[in-house]
Amino acid sequence: TMSSEPVNVNEFKALAERALPKMYFEFYAGGAEDEHTLKANEEAYQRITIRPRVLVDVSRIDMSTRMLGYSISSPIMVAPSGLHKLANPEGELATARAAAASNTIMILSFGSSYSVEEVAASCNAVRFFQLYRAERSGYKAIVLTVDCPRMGRREADIKNRMIVSKQKNVEGLVSTEVDADGGSNLEAYVNSTLDPSLSWKDVAWLKSITKLPILLKGIITHEDARIAVEVGAAGVIVSNHGGRQLDYSPATINVVEEVVHAVKGKIPVIVDGGVRRGTDVFKALALGAQAVLVGRPILYGLAAKGEHGVKQVIQMLKEELELAMALAGCTSLKDITRSHVRTERDRCQ
Ligand code: FNR
Repeated sequence: TMSSEPVNVNEFKALAERALPKMYFEFYAGGAEDEHTLKANEEAYQRITIRPRVLVDVSRIDMSTRMLGYSISSPIMVAPSGLHKLANPEGELATARAAAASNTIMILSFGSSYSVEEVAASCNAVRFFQLYRAERSGYKAIVLTVDCPRMGRREADIKNRMIVSKQKNVEGLVSTEVDADGGSNLEAYVNSTLDPSLSWKDVAWLKSITKLPILLKGIITHEDARIAVEVGAAGVIVSNHGGRQLDYSPATINVVEEVVHAVKGKIPVIVDGGVRRGTDVFKALALGAQAVLVGRPILYGLAAKGEHGVKQVIQMLKEELELAMALAGCTSLKDITRSHVRTERDRCQ
């Protein structure tokens, strides 16, 4: 008989779909409007090929790296995503423990089910968070999401009348009441926690009130990448929010180089969106990213198997990256160069 144990990260999606109520699964899996960007994120990776070098001694592979001075076991980190309790009662506590056990960094979402303090108390992972309140609880960086002045239109949530359960960080600040007609309260709820007036001035203000480094998440043009460097961002995350915000924004892997060239090595570039294989991580690094974030697969691992599932997802991606490096003739991350990949644009030239 065939084993039902997942052998790759994609198989966790099917397990999560079986484990979760439809409304929750679609909240995690869905994207904005036509879901063009959602699909493009994954498909764009599939159009990049790898140019392996052979006859390199690959008996030892080192995937370790540093992020803002913190050592991590591989360039694979945990993206911020809301409401982990929908996947598992342990929620972000389990995710954080799995990240700690995997020796990687977790970015806690502002919209988490457990508070910054609760997650801090649950583990000793290096954690980044989205607000200055995190400084007190030992978080090491602030990740400001800049692609979310308003919530994107996620039609599955509208159809499912997705109801937001408690987000602990905003307790007492906003109402979780369902609106009178019994429809989805998600949009109203989330919009009440967002600030459409957020601008570059506020990044300068944020810098003035915290000692923590600030990463800007959601930079996808060279224009904004340059401004990010000018205002003193400690890093940028090339992200389109996993296709949940502006539909028809480009697949992130296709704009990594544009951002990398714009920041000229002054600050690290991280990319997320559609990373499902170790070879995807390899491609992102070849195009100049220093690390990747993984979003949905973490939630799928959590839904399927709790903390252990999250560990397995991270472990699978790490093992695949290690194998890809060996087969491509790279023994450390710095060996992965631009000449190890071929993009569609390369083929046109
Ligand atoms: C997210 N994402 C996100 N980003 C952020 O900055 N703050 C947040 O609160 C959330 N919440 C959130 C919830 C859910 C359910 C998902 C799926 C995503 C976006 C996330 O950080 C990341 O950019 C994408 O998930 C990366 O794409 P993949 O890996 O999911 O394809």
